[in-house]
Amino acid sequence: MPISIKSDREIELMKEAGRILAITHEELSKALRPGMTTYDIDKLGEEIIRSYGCIPSFLNYQGYPASICVSVNNEVVHGIPSKKHFIKEGDIVSLDAGVIYKGYHSDAARTHGIGHISDEAAKLIRVTRECFDEACHVVKEGAHIGDISRAVQEHAEKNGFSVVRDLVGHGVGTSLHEAPEVPNFVQKRRGARLQAGMTLAIEPMINAGAFHVKWLDDDWTVVTADGSLSAHYENTVLVTKDGCELLSVQ
Ligand code: MF3
Ligand code: CO
Repeated sequence: MPISIKSDREIELMKEAGRILAITHEELSKALRPGMTTYDIDKLGEEIIRSYGCIPSFLNYQGYPASICVSVNNEVVHGIPSKKHFIKEGDIVSLDAGVIYKGYHSDAARTHGIGHISDEAAKLIRVTRECFDEACHVVKEGAHIGDISRAVQEHAEKNGFSVVRDLVGHGVGTSLHEAPEVPNFVQKRRGARLQAGMTLAIEPMINAGAFHVKWLDDDWTVVTADGSLSAHYENTVLVTKDGCELLSVQ
C-alpha cells in the first residue's frame, strides 16, 4: 500500500482527533487510583471520548471488546479491561486509546505509575517516553522509517532495556492502521523515505527484561515472556519539511 499524504484539511481533522485524545489521556491520568478496576478506566475513557461526539476506534476493532487497552505491569499492550482486575499501589498501567473525529483517527498511549513505584519501574516509564522523543527528533522529510527504529532501539538498549519486535507502529489517518509499518528495532532495509504530510503513530514498547513476548489465551493480551515489566508510549505525529509535529496534544 502507498503511504498517504494528508491535505491541510485532513491534517486539521487529525489535529482535532488528536487534541480530544490528549484530553482523554489527561483526564484518565487524573482519575487513576488504587482500587479502581481496569473496567472503570475503560468506561471513563469511553465516556470522555463520546462526550466530544467522537468514536472510540478500538471498540470492536477486529473484535477487541473495549475502548481503552489497559495493560498492567508485565502486560505489554492490548490488555482487556475487566471488572475483576483492581489496580494497586506500585503498579504501572499502560493506557492506549484511539479517537475517530469526522472519519479521521488519532492513536496515543501513556504509561502511568500508581502511587509509589519501584526505581526500575520509574526508569522504564521515563526511558520509554524518551525513546519516543528521540524518534521524533529524527523525523523530517527525507529521513527514513529506519531512522526512527534506530533512535528508539539505541536509547532503550543504552539504558539496559529491550525493544518489543512482534508489534510495530504504523501510519494512521482514515484508518487506524495504514502503511507504513514503523518498527522500533533496526532491520536490514532502511524503510520508506518520509515525506511532509505523512502521519504516523510512533509507539515504542519497551521491556525491562528480554524482548520476547507471548499472547494470552484471550488472543489479545500481549505479555513479556519473562514476566518483566513493560511500558508503552505513543503519539500520532505529522512529518513536516523540517521536523515532527505532535498531533495528539492539547
Ligand atoms: N493502539 C493499538 C495500535 O497502536 C491498536 C489497538 S488495537 C485494539 O496498534 F484492537 F486493541 F484496539
Ligand atoms: Co498504534
